Amino acid sequence: MTYPAINIGISVKDRENISQGLSRILAESFLLYMKTHNYHWNVRGPMFQTLHVMFESQYTELWGALDAIAERIRSLGFAAPGTLKEYLDMASIKEIEGVPTAEEMIRDVLVGSEAVSRLCREVLALADKAGDDPTVDLLTERMQIHEKNAWMLRTLIDTGAAPVVLKSKGRKK
Ligand SMILES: [Fe+2]
Repeated sequence: MTYPAINIGISVKDRENISQGLSRILAESFLLYMKTHNYHWNVRGPMFQTLHVMFESQYTELWGALDAIAERIRSLGFAAPGTLKEYLDMASIKEIEGVPTAEEMIRDVLVGSEAVSRLCREVLALADKAGDDPTVDLLTERMQIHEKNAWMLRTLIDTGAAPVVLKSKGRKK
């Protein structure tokens, strides 16, 4: 049976490049998901309740995001990678052995969230150039969430200088 070829106004080459980028984001996000769920289970110490709940809300959101990313790859005409082997090969995020301390967990998820955000920003530029607005939209949302998560995690361990207060430029007369 024949069926119409994909004809959505994005060239095959662009669809391929964007899908490759999305596959890397999927791999990175999967490893971050797994870590966050692991830490939800194994976190210990006085921050247990806060982190147990925070990690749960983050991994639950990430789980949904994996589906949206994979389905965008399918919509662009390529296979979504779905094995741990492919994810481990593609991702910059590395698995950690043993059970880290609560603070190490925070740092690890924070650094991972920012790594995913940087990669989304890189792939978004590609999608934007190709006129792939649905991918731009998806990646904009992913960056917002990862950067918010990173802020919340950083705040838990940031006991240094207070954040910079921006000077008011005043109202134009
Ligand atoms: Fe649980």
